[in-house]
Amino acid sequence: MTPPVTLEAYLDARRAEVEAALAHALPPAPDCPAIVGEAMRYSLDAGGKRLRPILCLAAADAVAGQRGTDPAEAHALALPAACALELIHTYSLVHDDLPAMDNDTMRRGKPTLHVVAGEGMAILAGDGLLTEAFALLAREPVSEDPAVISRRLQVVGVIATAAGGTGMVGGQALDLAMDPQGSGPGASIDAAALRAMHARKTGALITAAAVAGAVIAGGDASAVAAIRRCGERFGLAFQIVDDVLDVEATSADLGKTAGKDAAAGKPTYPALYGLAESKQMARACIDDAATDLRAAGFGDTRLLDIGRWIVDRTH
Ligand code: IPE
Ligand code: IPE
Ligand code: MG
Ligand code: MG
Ligand code: MG
Repeated sequence: MTPPVTLEAYLDARRAEVEAALAHALPPAPDCPAIVGEAMRYSLDAGGKRLRPILCLAAADAVAGQRGTDPAEAHALALPAACALELIHTYSLVHDDLPAMDNDTMRRGKPTLHVVAGEGMAILAGDGLLTEAFALLAREPVSEDPAVISRRLQVVGVIATAAGGTGMVGGQALDLAMDPQGSGPGASIDAAALRAMHARKTGALITAAAVAGAVIAGGDASAVAAIRRCGERFGLAFQIVDDVLDVEATSADLGKTAGKDAAAGKPTYPALYGLAESKQMARACIDDAATDLRAAGFGDTRLLDIGRWIVDRTH
């Protein structure tokens, strides 16, 4: 097989692998009642960039390249984690859009799940997506090899920690508690607090995507540590760009309502630093990640390109 040359071709190939695996990632009816199964599918199949699963596969690729192992085998090992990350990410979007949180009516170019199925069903679909992610991680990759089984368990821990209270749930809670107009904890959010909130709410799962791919592909401690640092920088850059796009892009381009952060008085990078400095900071994260990756021997991997994709994206 000739390796794809352009980034576009690489992303398309990885996305196709992810979509094919996602098609089998949820329990079918009648095992899972259609009413909630279809709600889960509605949000999952609405599309999205699939950044986290692609990053997971790219990290597995980087490790396979370093170890001289077969990339196809690394992908097979990493696909369950890649899919689990997308299930968790999709649940986080469904809950983030609820009236009790950001109260958004458009996501991935379609009406949000609570708009079409009601709040109760949207909450349950989110719960289902989260739980099925861990069911998938518990059963796959199927292997008798004790080394693979041990790595699989490690991946469960990495993803659980990133999704839970120390990671995304904690970050979303801080975001929710921010009250820039009032006297709540967000009234005087400073740069360090904003960065820490972004690291949890978005950075943690993006970091976990990179780490999970590196771990399951058999990366050693120093490779995993280097890829973790890269994931942390990518994660911060990703949320800064999300904040910038909320100001600069159109709802049609984003597939979600633009301009919501300022309207809701959310603490964001553009609100604190302005647009030009925010963009510069996102780019600096990616430049730092690239320097680190080169130093760790991952200089000619797709991880570098994915960093550029994160800052150059328009949606
Ligand atoms: C949006 O994530 C929510 C954040 C964590 C900022 P994405 O921009 O990755 O959304 P999709 O998956 O492409 O829809
Ligand atoms: C949400 O951040 C991060 C999640 C954990 C879902 P945002 O609230 O900025 O995400 P968007 O802009 O609605 O996609
Ligand atoms: Mg939000
Ligand atoms: Mg939101
Ligand atoms: Mg946003």
